[in-house]
Amino acid sequence: MSINNYMNQIIEGNCVEVMKNFDDDIIDLTVTSPPYDDLRNYKGFVFPFEEIAKELYRITKPGGVVVWIVADATIEGSETGTSFKQALYFKEIGFNLHDTMIFKKKNPIPQIYRKRYNNEFEFMFVFSKGVVKTHNSILVDCMHAGLELNGTTYKNYSKNDQTREKLAKPVKDKKIKGNIWEYVVGKKQEDQEAKGHSAPFPCELVRDHIFSWTNPGDTVFDPMSGSGTTCKVACKQDRNYIGIDISHEYCELARERIKIVETQMKLTF
Ligand SMILES: C[S@@+](CC[C@H](N)C(=O)[O-])C[C@H]1O[C@@H](n2cnc3c(N)ncnc32)[C@H](O)[C@@H]1O
Repeated sequence: MSINNYMNQIIEGNCVEVMKNFDDDIIDLTVTSPPYDDLRNYKGFVFPFEEIAKELYRITKPGGVVVWIVADATIEGSETGTSFKQALYFKEIGFNLHDTMIFKKKNPIPQIYRKRYNNEFEFMFVFSKGVVKTHNSILVDCMHAGLELNGTTYKNYSKNDQTREKLAKPVKDKKIKGNIWEYVVGKKQEDQEAKGHSAPFPCELVRDHIFSWTNPGDTVFDPMSGSGTTCKVACKQDRNYIGIDISHEYCELARERIKIVETQMKLTF
């Protein structure tokens, strides 16, 4: 079946089965998060991880990106390590591990005393099929903007220590943002529509990835779309979207959220 039959839709079903109907090399960016080690009870999920990863590789365009957002459960005193195992599996089947990014929560849930520090982050593994084709860098202010710096010694992890004799003078106003991204979870106005789901992404997080790895008109995918945050934000940023979720209830919630965006966009034109 042509991919056009799935474009800009939320499809109810097991993502592995649905993805099998997609052509090769059609997705520019996937932003998704799987059920974490069965931490939450999603209505009737089936989670064949290895098959999902292989299908994602097949349908991603050369140079396309998969952002896999995941964390581990702690079982009998030990973190499961599932996140790392999954990341290594993605590498094994051909993806580059382009970047291991961190989603830091500004308002993590306080945990009871368990002889460990409060968990306040999740991994955002950024995989690419070959060399990344699109990177629109998010820029941030340089702390020392305008300063005249002298030469310095810095560590180059692939070589020996090196001395940088010529530094940009003065220090520029902006630089590329770091790979730890911080967001408030569940409190922002734009995230309130997703309250019917137990683990929605902050819209802002998805917005930053879509901006970074795609251009308008590209296709953004979420095979486990839940409340539809990835698809809603893609639609709002003039990208095509495809979402799949196994739960009828979540698909309905996602469709409602997207309908709000589409109505707002129609009113603007
Ligand atoms: C972590 S949640 C995703 C939340 C989503 N990022 C959001 O913003 O709402 C994982 C989702 O995967 C869905 N799911 C689990 N197994 C699935 C499968 N095999 N195929 C499709 N969806 C699945 C669950 O119903 C759940 O909504």
